[in-house]
This record gives sequence, C-alpha cells and structure tokens, in this order.
Amino acid sequence: MLLPALVWAVTTLIWVDHGAEAHPTAAASARRDDAADYDWGSIRCPAVNSQQTFPTPSYRTEKGLFLVCTELVINATPQEVYHALLDFQAYSAWNSFVRNVALPAEVVKTPDDVYAGLEMRFTTAGIIPLLNTTSNEIVTVMKGSFDDGGSPGEGETAPATTATQYLMAAWRYDDGLHGTASKSEHPNILVDRGDGTTLYISYETFFVGPGTLLLLPLKDTLQKQYTQQGLDLKAYVEKTI
Ligand SMILES: *[C@@H]1O[C@H](CO)[C@@H](O)[C@H](O)[C@H]1NC(C)=O
Repeated sequence: MLLPALVWAVTTLIWVDHGAEAHPTAAASARRDDAADYDWGSIRCPAVNSQQTFPTPSYRTEKGLFLVCTELVINATPQEVYHALLDFQAYSAWNSFVRNVALPAEVVKTPDDVYAGLEMRFTTAGIIPLLNTTSNEIVTVMKGSFDDGGSPGEGETAPATTATQYLMAAWRYDDGLHGTASKSEHPNILVDRGDGTTLYISYETFFVGPGTLLLLPLKDTLQKQYTQQGLDLKAYVEKTI
C-alpha cells in the first residue's frame, strides 16, 4: 500500500508545482517550435514500468502524467489498417474496449465522412467492472497518405515530413472544460514495413491535470484494454482483407 500512496503524493506535488507556472516562459514557447518537428513515425513503446511519456499532436509541450502504449505487427498495409481505425461504425464488430461510437447525424458512412474536428462519443467497457463508461473524443489527425503532412490539429501547423514513412490517425479526449480538468490524446501510428505489413503503435498520453490524477489508479487497467484493443484490431484487419 505504501508505494501507491507515495506515487499519489509525488504526482500530487508535481501537479501543484505545475499549477504554479501560471505564465508560459520564453523557454516554453521555444520548446513548442522544436516539437513541431516531432518525428511521430519513430515513436516506439517504452519498456514496461517505464515512466516515459510522449507528446501528442495536440499537446506538444504539456507534461505527461502517464502513458499507455501497445505495439504490434499487422499483416496488412498501413492503408488497410488506417481504414479500419477510422471506420468507427464497425468498432462494435471487433473492438472489445471501445464497444460503440456515437456519431453526429451528418456522418452517414465511416470512414468516408470522418473529418478532423469530428466529435464522437465512445462507449468503453472494462475500465470499471460490469459497467460501460463513456467519453467524448475529437478527431485531431488524419494523415492518410505518406506524402502529405496530415490535417493539423486545432491551432497547429502540419507536422514536418520525416524520413519514416507512416500514416497517423489521432483523437483527443474532450473534458468539456477546455482541457482544464483532463487532457489526453490517442495517436495511432502506422509505419510501413515495406513488405505489405504494418508496425502499429497505439498510445495515449494522459497529461498532468486534476482529472487525469483520478485516472492514475486505472493505468494498469487501461494498459490491458489498449493491449487487447491492438490484438482485436490485428485479428479484425487480418480476417477482413
Ligand atoms: C455496454 O455497451 C454495449 C455497446 O453499446 C452494450 O451492448 C452493452 O449492453 C452495454 N453494457 C452495459 C452493462 O450497459
């Protein structure tokens, strides 16, 4: 019991410290420009038990509290995996974590009608036993080809092109409070392995904030669900193509 209590205390202190930085410094804005060149295609999941977190397209300079990450090879092209990821209407057919995705009426067919900025409501299972949970999510990145920089996130410029060939789809959690309670984002990165297969990297960074702190005890559960979701996606895509 002592270790969780310590972790809790330390993260609380980190948050208090963060709260004191009311004014962004010149150093912080400089870091922001560096982060614009982030090489998303080079991200790989850190070792289990690592405290490392990654920036996300919408939150390049925020302080990460914790990360969940899964990575596997899918025997399908990046385009095929990308299609499945954005086909939100089909999620209930394969995804044991995100059981259902509610979409606005103007979205008739996915992935065709999906756009950056689309607001969705996920119904998720397995976080709290026997209960479904819901979360509002907003599509932030749709990089569906290797050449283009993808749709920039809100207020962001397109990521710079990099040597690594990858596609990316991402969405961020919307706490309904402009991120003051909780910021997190889920990038899905699809690296072309050059042989018709894809290295799939799926992660979510939960950034420091009062709402995120409440999720910290659920980290292991969330990690399990992410791992399973990756396996579900692989099984679905490999069966479909
Ligand atoms: C959870 O959501 C799924 C998909 O919408 C639904 O089939 C299931 O009955 C729900 N379970 C509970 C306990 O509400």
